[in-house]
Amino acid sequence: MNQGEIRLGGVGCGGFGLYALQQFAQVPGVKPTGMAGTHRQAAYAAAQRFGIPDIEDVDKLLARDDVDLIYIATPPFLHHRQALAALEAGKHVICEKPLAMTVEQADSMIAAARKHDRLLIANLMQRYNPVYDAVERLIQSQTLGELLHGYFENYASDENLPPEHWFWDQSKSGGIFVEHGVHFFDLFAGWLGPGAVVAAQRGLRPGSSPPIEEHVQCTVRYGSTVLVNFYHGFHQAGRMDRQELRLVFERGDVTLYDWVPTKARIHAIADEAQTRALCELFPGARLDVSTTYSPKDRICQGRHKALDIYQMIELAWGEGTNKSHRYGELLRAILADQLAWARDHTHTRKITEVNGRDSLAVACAADRLAQA
Ligand SMILES: NC(=O)c1ccc[n+]([C@@H]2O[C@H](COP(=O)([O-])OP(=O)(O)OC[C@H]3O[C@@H](n4cnc5c(N)ncnc54)[C@H](O)[C@@H]3O)[C@@H](O)[C@H]2O)c1
Repeated sequence: MNQGEIRLGGVGCGGFGLYALQQFAQVPGVKPTGMAGTHRQAAYAAAQRFGIPDIEDVDKLLARDDVDLIYIATPPFLHHRQALAALEAGKHVICEKPLAMTVEQADSMIAAARKHDRLLIANLMQRYNPVYDAVERLIQSQTLGELLHGYFENYASDENLPPEHWFWDQSKSGGIFVEHGVHFFDLFAGWLGPGAVVAAQRGLRPGSSPPIEEHVQCTVRYGSTVLVNFYHGFHQAGRMDRQELRLVFERGDVTLYDWVPTKARIHAIADEAQTRALCELFPGARLDVSTTYSPKDRICQGRHKALDIYQMIELAWGEGTNKSHRYGELLRAILADQLAWARDHTHTRKITEVNGRDSLAVACAADRLAQA
């Protein structure tokens, strides 16, 4: 790869593609040089913003030698075909999530990337969030004891998804687990290792024809004890779009808000050393002591273990963080990390092509079980 400038070609520049391209263009050394495979109006807006030609035809963009990296932001059913063509043309590829529609497709894309020694990742940017690292340290340090349960509840808006939108067409999107769930399967796998889907359901919108899958849920078991419930519903007005992710430990819990989490709240019973450890894990958090226990009230029990508890606390972290700014930060961080690897393979990346494949494998397993 060119050690100086990275010349970026965009394929598909709709709602998300334009937003991501704007962020990618701000990564030092990256220069948008062309775009293709998008509808005319979006193409016109994007070409104007970046001052780049709209080449329209994807193959023509791939044939250009002034393009090093292709960013694919078309609907999921096009990812496999377009990414393979880009890799075969010798380009690096950042592909929107999901990496593909099936695990077999993902495997063939990964094989092509390795054969040509090119970058290939799905844009799973959640692990680049600073709160991801804080939660990882919380789990590993066992500051709140062992992790027992987790959930992610996504009450998403469908206000911009009219019935004819590709999102509802499973042959184009892969369904909700595949199109959207992959972000969260990857997040939890980062914290807890590989998981196995043990239950899954889906619900169709009454009276919809063709049927609209409007919500899905599944339970994933991590290791032998941790159970995590994932719920995704696309049925809310935009202004009521909301998400909550909680991890429950033996002595407290951490709750993250928004689907790109910006805020965290930790609610716990803790002694002074644990309180201090939590403050260090979530730097800058506001600490409130809700209750201080007198010596006679300090002894309590959970899971048949005796606990000596000094106080009940609440920590609030990330208040006032702008979600859109955080989202942009994550996109710039993922591209910078991946380009560092493309330039020098001794660089250790936060995610690789395997994250795209493995998150898709969990999503496909959940979808199969829900359909059955
Ligand atoms: N990483 C993230 O956080 C994130 C967020 C939102 C969307 N996405 C992903 O980005 C991709 C695009 O999503 P979007 O919301 O921008 O969609 P969109 O419909 O707004 O844009 C899709 C783009 O693909 C083009 N396109 C080319 N062929 C098409 C076809 N046959 N049908 C429909 N569009 C076609 C459209 O012109 C448009 O430019 C999806 O894979 C989605 O899952 C990722």
